[in-house]
Amino acid sequence: MKLSAGDVKQFEDEGFIFVPDLFTSEELAILKGEIPAVFAERRPEIVREKSGDVVRTAFATHTYNDVYRRFVSHPRILEPAQQLLGGDVYIHQFKLNGKAAFDGDVWQWHQDYGTWSRDDDMPEARAMNLAVFLDEVNEFNGPLYIVPKSHKAGVLGAGHDVETTSYPLWTLDHETVARLIDDGGIAAPKGPPGSGFFFHGTLVHGSPPNMSPWDRLIVYVTYNRTDNAIRRFKRPEYIAHRDFTPLEVLPDDCLTSP
Ligand code: SIN
Ligand code: MN
Repeated sequence: MKLSAGDVKQFEDEGFIFVPDLFTSEELAILKGEIPAVFAERRPEIVREKSGDVVRTAFATHTYNDVYRRFVSHPRILEPAQQLLGGDVYIHQFKLNGKAAFDGDVWQWHQDYGTWSRDDDMPEARAMNLAVFLDEVNEFNGPLYIVPKSHKAGVLGAGHDVETTSYPLWTLDHETVARLIDDGGIAAPKGPPGSGFFFHGTLVHGSPPNMSPWDRLIVYVTYNRTDNAIRRFKRPEYIAHRDFTPLEVLPDDCLTSP
């Protein structure tokens, strides 16, 4: 799928693009159909919330599940990634973020590239997230909060928070976040299941806890340019992948007709 010149400009200026109706209800049923079995697994890739047994993040599902293996090479996400990043890409990270009803915990303010740079020694911010909502995202179930234009700030100073949630994160201080929000405001992309949300590696974002009775499942694929591969292998392979082979685009019906 080719993005329009307007989409590319929006990405460059604002740091994100929202794409309604990216996946059909038939495709969503296939993607969601895998979730109960994936989330029931007890393996290191599945990180649970601090408060209980619900899944916070399932990493690397595409490495052991055939539906998600095809999903990451789907033309509606892989082609925009190649276009926006300007070359061949591989998967740096894959995650299904559960943000479960009542229990889904906060994601503190951060930039993803801050972590990819500090922990994985990724040379440049030539990586990005292509996210797809698998549930409706509304104002109550812990939508992403993003700071438009903040990707232009480059890599900001951050502290390593290993306590607030079950997952360590390089987080931004309040003064920095307040200053950026003064400039760019806050946006919260919301929409029905199947919506796409593509965002820059240095865009500042986070999300509040989910106090609602509705799950908020989003799948994130982090694509990185093959000539920008990571150089430090400190984190587990399932969090920061080492297979730098360029991905090949699959046919548009790869989910419905494997
Ligand atoms: C993230 O920033 O990596 C996850 C945020 C979320 O899913 O709410
Ligand atoms: Mn993030």
